[in-house]
Amino acid sequence: MKFFLDTADVGEIKKALAWGVLDGVTTNPSLVAKTGRRFEDVRAEILSLVTGPVSLEVTRMDLDGMMSQAHELRALGPQVVVKLPLTREGIAACKACSDAGIPTNVTLCFSANQALLAAKAGATYISPFVGRLDDISMDGMKLIEDIVTIYRNYNFRTQVLVASTRSPVHILQAARLGAHVSTIPFAVMDQLFNHPLTDLGNEKFLKDWAKVPGQAG
Ligand code: G3P
Repeated sequence: MKFFLDTADVGEIKKALAWGVLDGVTTNPSLVAKTGRRFEDVRAEILSLVTGPVSLEVTRMDLDGMMSQAHELRALGPQVVVKLPLTREGIAACKACSDAGIPTNVTLCFSANQALLAAKAGATYISPFVGRLDDISMDGMKLIEDIVTIYRNYNFRTQVLVASTRSPVHILQAARLGAHVSTIPFAVMDQLFNHPLTDLGNEKFLKDWAKVPGQAG
């Protein structure tokens, strides 16, 4: 399973890159707004750091506007994936991008039928939002299970990108279900490292190592 970082914060991207486990980045308008920086500056810096797929979202909601933004964004780098909303216009833009060879990430997916539409339109990635479904007492991970099954039934090539992840358990469940990608907030990616037995074990190894003659310090 690929790990994408769900952020527009360049500091977080640099830290995750240093861990050596980062495959790509996803952004959205809210994440960009959180940085307080201009989109042009943020995306240029992200693209200078990340060689894997970087999702940049369109903000025009009409088909012509989406397509003009899609071409503009894609021209910024070969790693750019155009993020499109799961609306009628977004799905039409997805089909046009697919025909033009532009990779896409269809976002704001909350049902398996929506995921089916995105796959039929040739989406590179579908982003079902598990956390936001959990927020309204629905089972976000059940949606992932359904989409993975449906895509396998028909050999769709669209990759399931689990979005709106909120805890390490979401990542574990996504991996168990065979999702292709999880996009993960920095704090959650950081939590994936943690285990008290790792800390305790390391502490003991270092304590014992200090007892080995000639190895103190
Ligand atoms: O990038 C889309 C998604 O991951 C947003 O997550 O936490 O705002 O629901 P969240």
